[in-house]
Amino acid sequence: MAESLSVSGTTKKEKYESLLPQIKALIEGETDFIANLSNIMSALKFGMDFFWAGVYFVKDQQLVLGPFQGPVACTRIGFGKGVCGTAWKEKRTIIVEDVDQFPGHIACSSLSKSEIVLPAFDKSNNVTLILDIDSEHLATFDETDKFYLEQVITIISKCAS
Ligand code: SME
Repeated sequence: MAESLSVSGTTKKEKYESLLPQIKALIEGETDFIANLSNIMSALKFGMDFFWAGVYFVKDQQLVLGPFQGPVACTRIGFGKGVCGTAWKEKRTIIVEDVDQFPGHIACSSLSKSEIVLPAFDKSNNVTLILDIDSEHLATFDETDKFYLEQVITIISKCAS
């Protein structure tokens, strides 16, 4: 695996283009899912300078906190609750420009101002986990993040199986 990250570029697109091959290299040859998720979350948080990057696993009809990088977070989220539970229920990526405007948003940190949440699916189209990325700034995430983070979801889904 790669030992360190070096993200180049000035635009968001350039940074993701630089980061994605490094994420693939990070997990190459390693089969342990938790180890790989842990490194992917670190690569996202520090590579893209996000406030928080982590996953929640679908377990016993709840979302349960998994590997993450950033401040401590709530450990369990119900179906349909918050942004994460809504993305699980609606099986879709959700971009929130201002968390204060999202009804039922769960504030793990008052510093988080915007977020993007993406579901990963198994072969039967059931949601298996949720990727949650938070920013300290308003309106950080857009279709570019969705495009590249959905590629990260594909990488995660491949290393889950
Ligand atoms: N804000 C999320 C909860 C998870 S934390 O942000 C890490 C939500 O509303 O689902």
